[in-house]
Amino acid sequence: MAQFVPVETFDLVIFGGTGDLAQRKLLPSLFHRDSDGQFPDGSRIIAASRATMSDEAFVTLVREALETYLTDDELDDDVWERFAARLSYVTLDITTPDGWQTLADKLQQFDDRIRAFYLATIPSLFGETARQLSLAGVINERARIVLEKPVGSDRASAREINDAVGQYFDERQIYRIDHYLGKETVQNLSALRFANSLLEPLWNRTHIDHVQITVSEHIGTGNRAQFYDRTGALRDMVQNHILQLLCLVAMEPPLSMHHDDIRNEKIKVLKALRPITAETVKRATARGQYAAGAISGEAVPGYSEELGEASDRETFVALRADIDNWRWNGTPFYLRTGKRLPQKSSEIVIQFRAVAHPIFGDAAGDMQANRLIIRLQPNEGMMLTMVTKEPGPGGFQLRSLPLNLSFSEAFQLRYPDAYERLLMEVLRGNPALFMRRDEVDEAWRWIDGIIDAWSETGMSVQPYVAGTWGPTASAVLLDRDDRAWYQDIS
Ligand code: BG6
Repeated sequence: MAQFVPVETFDLVIFGGTGDLAQRKLLPSLFHRDSDGQFPDGSRIIAASRATMSDEAFVTLVREALETYLTDDELDDDVWERFAARLSYVTLDITTPDGWQTLADKLQQFDDRIRAFYLATIPSLFGETARQLSLAGVINERARIVLEKPVGSDRASAREINDAVGQYFDERQIYRIDHYLGKETVQNLSALRFANSLLEPLWNRTHIDHVQITVSEHIGTGNRAQFYDRTGALRDMVQNHILQLLCLVAMEPPLSMHHDDIRNEKIKVLKALRPITAETVKRATARGQYAAGAISGEAVPGYSEELGEASDRETFVALRADIDNWRWNGTPFYLRTGKRLPQKSSEIVIQFRAVAHPIFGDAAGDMQANRLIIRLQPNEGMMLTMVTKEPGPGGFQLRSLPLNLSFSEAFQLRYPDAYERLLMEVLRGNPALFMRRDEVDEAWRWIDGIIDAWSETGMSVQPYVAGTWGPTASAVLLDRDDRAWYQDIS
């Protein structure tokens, strides 16, 4: 069982402390870590936000959030008492000098402890927050800053943000969140690849025909429609989460689990991504937007109805990514993500090549090539399909059957939320699960190329009915290569 190693005494300041992310994810995650005894006495959680509020009112707000997002069993009274005593609130407007002195006075009571600033705000405020922190004199050697995604909306704006924050914090003090990296099953990709001798010799173009990465969601854009309409599936999901998954599958074995060893290998993959250009974009990508339909039998409106106007923003994207390096040349990675698809699931399919020479003849039936399916969520686990002989006295029939490993059956443990791990890594000072500046930059380089190619060729969205697997162009993308999405063949 995993050990809970206490962190050092800390002050954690959450900007946007009354916002959705803080209430839904950060504070419940911190509560869980406190219940496992990871926080030394005296550690403080300070929320900063524009609303005028007393400490008591903030504590009440947090209590309500925990009642909403934790179960009754999880919300233990003794832990709550301890947790509530850590909480305090500062009214502060990032864009004005108001409130900064109060925050500085609070922090300067304990100058030698770990000091983390979590920016759960809009990215356009990141630079200004860093500047104000510097003016307030609270950035010291032990300080670190956490930037929520998205860092920018293209390469240029990401650079602006990184430059602005970089004026006041060293790169080693900057933690850029991609919450997928905090997911247990995503971290398990490293264990799968580098703690088992079985797979790595096969993990290359010679043995793998192609890879599919699907992150599907059944929810729509709901009350985020306005934000989403400036973003779209490519920026919201591919630039960060899906490219990180691709890197972890495709990278060379790092020298060690040291953060720079891992990140040095990931960046090589990003650099090797073949650019998608105006010449290739129509064959290499599919863009879709959901129209009204039904999810689990329930009618749901289309994207433009939710938004209140017509829009060309994609809520679905499928791509063929080619990695131009020695290991992967000729083995495409098909990526797709979308809202209002039939189900919420994230999975990686490693499709091995067919056997070199089929000896069983047509009568034996379809001899499917082996396939490794890594289920990231839900039903976390792995499945490897194996071809076997069907029992029977006559003939020789083949059948593909799964070797199935379910993590929930193997480990009877609660899966911690990604933010629990990420927050602890920030406090410990381990940036391995965060994106380094050059990674963000390279990821945007590739994504910007696709966005430019879409606009150059006027490639607009294709509608798909909510509750289906995206527009026809998505199936055609693979069909063209004589392949199919896993759910179409399983
Ligand atoms: C966020 C995106 O980063 O990830 C959301 O902005 C998306 O649009 C979410 O819904 C999905 O995360 P998860 O952990 O639910 O797969």
